[in-house]
Amino acid sequence: MSAILTPALPTLPRQTAARALSRTMAAWLGVALLGQLFFVIYVLGFYGRHALQGRPELWNKVLPHGWVAGDVLGNTVLAGHLLFTVVILLGGALQLWPLLRRRVAALHRWNGRLYLVSALILSVGGLVMVWTREGVGLGGTGQRLGISLNAVLILAFAWLGWRAARLRRFDAHRRWMLRLFLVVAGVWFFRIGLMLWLIVNQGPVGFDPETFEGPFLIFLSFAQTLLPLAVLEAVLRAQASGRPALQAATATGLALLTLATAVGIAAAGMLMWLPRIQ
Ligand code: HEM
Repeated sequence: MSAILTPALPTLPRQTAARALSRTMAAWLGVALLGQLFFVIYVLGFYGRHALQGRPELWNKVLPHGWVAGDVLGNTVLAGHLLFTVVILLGGALQLWPLLRRRVAALHRWNGRLYLVSALILSVGGLVMVWTREGVGLGGTGQRLGISLNAVLILAFAWLGWRAARLRRFDAHRRWMLRLFLVVAGVWFFRIGLMLWLIVNQGPVGFDPETFEGPFLIFLSFAQTLLPLAVLEAVLRAQASGRPALQAATATGLALLTLATAVGIAAAGMLMWLPRIQ
């Protein structure tokens, strides 16, 4: 009788939804790590190659005011920025590897320290460059504020994650480090987001490709930090909720974002990174 009055709603078994969510998270992470490896290959293949050839002035094919003859301090900051890009992106992938964390805890700790130092160098060096340099490609004040927010959050999350580890609050440490991983990837999100936008719109919309300014780029320079953080919070909450329907809906949303990430990476690779290293 009660079954007639309250018709059975289709329910998802608890474990199935939880498993679907963690598998989708792993799929997104796998795609993102491959995309970041692509970015590293580009940095080594373009900036690293020209540096080894003793011709860093060729960096200016991409950064019009990157290498400035005679500006030893500015050039050192930029070179350090590029070198630590490689260290932090490869180090981040290593840090997230669960087997390494469990089996070689000392390596996890040392790589973690190197990761935090790299985060400090990149964000402070980035702030110096963004507020002391002039030129096309560096964006207007809106974009400078957006990337500066990224730098401030990198510093804040690095501090909070380090402190949580020192206090042996490993659950909080894990959450701060996941947030740090995402904000460190902010500049990478910017690039794949921009290329995805160009593909979807079949050309530049909402900004001027000559001056590299416009409302869409201001939006993107904040979204590169805030959007991934919002998605992470939604995923962590869904995971902790134990509610199968919420977990299934979150897994579906994340699967779509994984697809968008893959398309953005492919577009960035084809339009930006590969042509510069060939
Ligand atoms: C922490 C993660 C970061 C990574 C991995 C990173 C990586 C890079 C890379 C690879 C470039 C060369 C541009 C290209 O070829 O696409 C670059 C340039 C630049 N980055 Fe970063 N960056 C990071 C954070 C930041 C932050 C937080 C800021 C500013 C607050 C910043 C400011 C700049 C500036 C201004 C340039 C251009 C320099 C010039 O044109 O002279 N970066 N970055």
